Amino acid sequence: MTLEQTRREYRYGRLSRESLLNCPFAQFQLWLDQACNSPIKDPTAMTVATVDARNRPWHRAVLLKGFDKRGFVFYTNLGSDKARQIAENPYVSLHFPWFFLDRQVSVGGRAEKVSRAEVLKYFFNRPRESQLAAWASKQSSRLSSRQALEAQFMAMKEKFAQGEVPTPDFWGGFRVMPEEFQFWQGGDRRLHDRYRYRLDEQGGNWEITQLAP
Ligand SMILES: Cc1cc2nc3c(=O)[nH]c(=O)nc-3n(C[C@H](O)[C@H](O)[C@H](O)COP(=O)(O)O)c2cc1C
Repeated sequence: MTLEQTRREYRYGRLSRESLLNCPFAQFQLWLDQACNSPIKDPTAMTVATVDARNRPWHRAVLLKGFDKRGFVFYTNLGSDKARQIAENPYVSLHFPWFFLDRQVSVGGRAEKVSRAEVLKYFFNRPRESQLAAWASKQSSRLSSRQALEAQFMAMKEKFAQGEVPTPDFWGGFRVMPEEFQFWQGGDRRLHDRYRYRLDEQGGNWEITQLAP
């Protein structure tokens, strides 16, 4: 099978204006719940696209750790490329690749740091090894070898052998407040269903538009 021959049909279902909920947060929650109840391996994984100081975009996967009307939350190293890019330009795009359900959701919005209290609460509840890994990895910086990373992990394990692992100052989270959502459901004959919710000028109402797929 060549790449050119690789294709499949999208027959999971349809998305109609009648079935679409008026509130994009409710529509997203519905699809998120369905993704979480499906065999998708990482249903809460999303990509975050940022733009660097030279206007070059980049994206990477992170895990969604909170979702409500205030936005989408993820946690990361505040010295990482993504965090530095967000500090320069807070406008980001998220993408949920739920291909198993013939779906994707794209979101555009503005990222803001989550409060320190939220960060502390989340970090405290992470498994100990994840906490130590956060200390051990100077995310996005040059690494001399795998052994150097393992050694750093062991050093942190020793350093914090007693009691709780504290939250590193360089570790935090972002909340993306959406300005636009797009819901895409694959259809047969490549006639997919696609709807956009966009906040109006006043920022009070969501305008729903059907888009050509
Ligand atoms: C499924 C998956 C989930 C991930 N979750 C996170 C996460 O929640 N936070 C994070 O900082 N990196 C996460 N990563 C690693 C990032 O994709 C990325 O490699 C890292 O954050 C460095 O990105 P940057 O150098 O562009 O800032 C995840 C990777 C995968 C594949």
